[in-house]
Amino acid sequence: MARAIVVSVNPEHPEPALIHTAAEMVRTGGLVAFPTETVYGLGANALDATAVERIFQAKGRPASDPLIVHLAGYQHLDTVASEIPPLAGILAHHFWPGPLTLVLHKKPLVPANVSAGRATVAVRVPHHPVALALLEAVGLPIAAPSANRFSRPSPTSAQHVLDDLDGRVDMVLDGGTTRIGLESTVVDLTRDPPVLLRPGGVPIEALREFIPAIELRPAYLEPGAEAASPGMLLKHYSPDAELIVFDGAREAALLRMRGMAAELAGQGRIVGLLIPNEDAEAFAGLPVRIAYLGPAGDLSRIGAALFAQMRELEPHVDLILVRGFAREGLGLAIWDRLLRAAQGHVLEC
Ligand code: TXA
Ligand code: MG
Repeated sequence: MARAIVVSVNPEHPEPALIHTAAEMVRTGGLVAFPTETVYGLGANALDATAVERIFQAKGRPASDPLIVHLAGYQHLDTVASEIPPLAGILAHHFWPGPLTLVLHKKPLVPANVSAGRATVAVRVPHHPVALALLEAVGLPIAAPSANRFSRPSPTSAQHVLDDLDGRVDMVLDGGTTRIGLESTVVDLTRDPPVLLRPGGVPIEALREFIPAIELRPAYLEPGAEAASPGMLLKHYSPDAELIVFDGAREAALLRMRGMAAELAGQGRIVGLLIPNEDAEAFAGLPVRIAYLGPAGDLSRIGAALFAQMRELEPHVDLILVRGFAREGLGLAIWDRLLRAAQGHVLEC
């Protein structure tokens, strides 16, 4: 395929003419990458099985991994989902538009490949002016996974999309850096009690107010546990360099990281560190490359920087060392992404 058409769009007030062109591309079966509040999505008409198939081809994604369907608003939910429980309305009222994906029973209108042959469909309304303008202009649901090659870190800028998918996508709407930087929280409402399939931009604590009995899965809690949701393979969100997570109290983890960094550097390996700003002094004098995640106490900043800084380090280093963060709030999503990027390689300190 030809190089992607890259269009700079105003992230707050997207230019109608540009959105119109992108919408036409989607309506005629094309692939358009666009920013959401979480990460960039690789969009196609969700009701066109051929266009949806192109998403899987472009990403190199297995057909067993279902896609999220994006809508312009809650009022469109019943075009793709059936047997919508009252809880879906309550959650949508509080969290949409926003980083919450609901798994519901699917309408037959939605092609089988969107949901990987399942009887369910995952749906969300994104909180981003560009995404919403595109959805409004297209007038159709848009299926969109994160716009990265399969198993790579999700893209938080248009450049990341091009790095992974240039030549495989028709158009990229460049609306700058995405705000949250971690994907949406996925909740399965077809189960009783509902199940948290993927921690993400809406913290579990916020969901518990509405779903006290929500069930968690070991996959994002412990290294080595089985996948919680289809396609949530342990190897996921991985940078090209090997990544190791050091879990435990800060002091113990930093000491062990410093020891390993020194040892590896001594063997001639190029070590990258993915650390909050305050941790830098623990590595003073070592020949390492550092990518900063922001202040240690600010999980939103760390979440927003995580994938971008992984991508920043990967071409320059053999290994990336990173410390585990508190598993509360956004921390659970951060921990989940680190576990996957490390493919289970976690050292208890
Ligand atoms: O923030 C996001 O969710 C981004 C933006 C672009 O919206 N999208 C995204 O899509 O992260 P993707 O394809 O990378 O991740 C979709 C997740 C996968 O873990 C998949 O297994 C789950 O949603 N999923 C999709 N449909 C499902 C279904 N019918 N049942 C269970 N899980 C489903
Ligand atoms: Mg993804």
